[in-house]
Amino acid sequence: MDTVCTLIYVILFLTTLFSYPSIKKQKKKPERAAELPPGSLGWPFIGETLLLYSQDPNVFFASKQKRYGEIFKTHILGCPCVVLASPEAARFVLVTHANLFKPTYPKSKERMIGPSALFFHQGDYHSKLRKLVQGSLSPETIRKLVTNIEAIAISALESWADGQVVVNTFHEMKKLSFDVGILSIFGQLEGKYREKLKENYCMVDKGYNSFPTNLPGTAYSKALLARKRLSEIVSEIICGREEKKLLQKDLLGCLMNSRDERGKTALTKDQIADNIIGVLFAAQDTTASVLTWILKYLHDDPKLLEAVKAEQNAIYEANDGGKKPLTWAQTRNMPLTYRVILESLRMANIISFTFREAVVDVEYKGYFIPKGWKVLPLFRNIHHNPEYFPDPQKFDASRFEVSPKPNTFMPFGNGGHSCPGNELAKLEMLILIHHLVTKFRWEVVGSQSGIQYCPFPVPKYGLPAKFWKELNSPKQDP
Ligand code: HEM
Repeated sequence: MDTVCTLIYVILFLTTLFSYPSIKKQKKKPERAAELPPGSLGWPFIGETLLLYSQDPNVFFASKQKRYGEIFKTHILGCPCVVLASPEAARFVLVTHANLFKPTYPKSKERMIGPSALFFHQGDYHSKLRKLVQGSLSPETIRKLVTNIEAIAISALESWADGQVVVNTFHEMKKLSFDVGILSIFGQLEGKYREKLKENYCMVDKGYNSFPTNLPGTAYSKALLARKRLSEIVSEIICGREEKKLLQKDLLGCLMNSRDERGKTALTKDQIADNIIGVLFAAQDTTASVLTWILKYLHDDPKLLEAVKAEQNAIYEANDGGKKPLTWAQTRNMPLTYRVILESLRMANIISFTFREAVVDVEYKGYFIPKGWKVLPLFRNIHHNPEYFPDPQKFDASRFEVSPKPNTFMPFGNGGHSCPGNELAKLEMLILIHHLVTKFRWEVVGSQSGIQYCPFPVPKYGLPAKFWKELNSPKQDP
């Protein structure tokens, strides 16, 4: 669907979704010492939503910050919001006073992902789930996946490397991160289940950002049906494991084996399915967008590419010209490549802000944040603040030779809801880059600038590119 239409749908939907409760809640408040932050709430109902979408959202937030400072109010997508663009304020909301704020998502998204997924919760249920998810995505667990991720990366690269065909890099990266997501959730999954999951997941993906109407035939209603089938497939997989009494250590295994205080199964099949689908969802477009940006940044900077190649070729040679598989230790010792990943995360800001909602009236630095208002920590503005990252528009991986100041670099969020998949995402990127630069070359086709929102920012048209095997690759056997 055309991007403009999608945007209008999203705006209309979110406006209706959020405006009713916010109108209801706006009773006259008693006099208070603290005042609302500076800023503008725009027009009734619409607020500043049209202004936000009439320009690059980053320009909208940057110009507001310039005018009002690091804390300002606005009214977007049907919600009165307080926007926070300082590291201290982001930490206040996400870490030190996280109990005063709750995660908030449109109901239609919650329904699509699954209401029991950990994103939507706080308190005991969230902590319990978080431990399970974090455990199965921890370095101790994912170190065992290196060889399998390598196989996925090599097979993906081989499939693109025709030299003639123009590949949509972002779409291909989505397939890759889907496969890695499936691996971390299900371990080695039977092909028939993988295919069924892929097919239905694609439908959910298509409907997720469409106008949420349940009329038959719409992308949204098809996505809801596909979402139901996904739950059924996960249930079938669970039943298969229960019958065979399989005790696996992947995410599904951890969720299935969790027990309450009385030793009973802690999670229902629906709760497990919601969390599995939630993790798949969180893993795919995020990692794929960053990988696409990395390929662009490396392509645009031949010197940097040469330096990354030199680092990776040394590992390749140490592995007997690629005959031995990469080891976990090697993936932990790719300093330049790692810095390129960090700088790509900073530059691209694929998650430029997050949403929370104040659950009580809150006072922060003399400003009043009313209960029910949305609060947006703006990661992007912090990542592009010259005070923390000098010459912020410049891609400079060497800036990460020194650790950033505390709370100034949050590509994976911060606090209790920060990304439990960050180590897996980085491992996947390191492995892909290793094989890409040691054996392949690529060239971007067509216009090389511009951003598209899918909904995360990606290079325009998904970075169309041609890939081919490098003739004098160190891999070539005599
Ligand atoms: C480069 C890739 C990724 C980026 C930039 C990213 C970023 C983020 C961010 C910023 C959050 C916090 C959102 C908030 O506080 O509102 C988050 C949460 C989350 N991410 Fe990631 N993520 C990535 C990859 C992954 C992967 C690979 C997985 C799983 C395999 C994953 C699973 C999750 C989950 C489950 C949450 C919710 C945690 C909670 O609510 O407790 N992410 N991610």
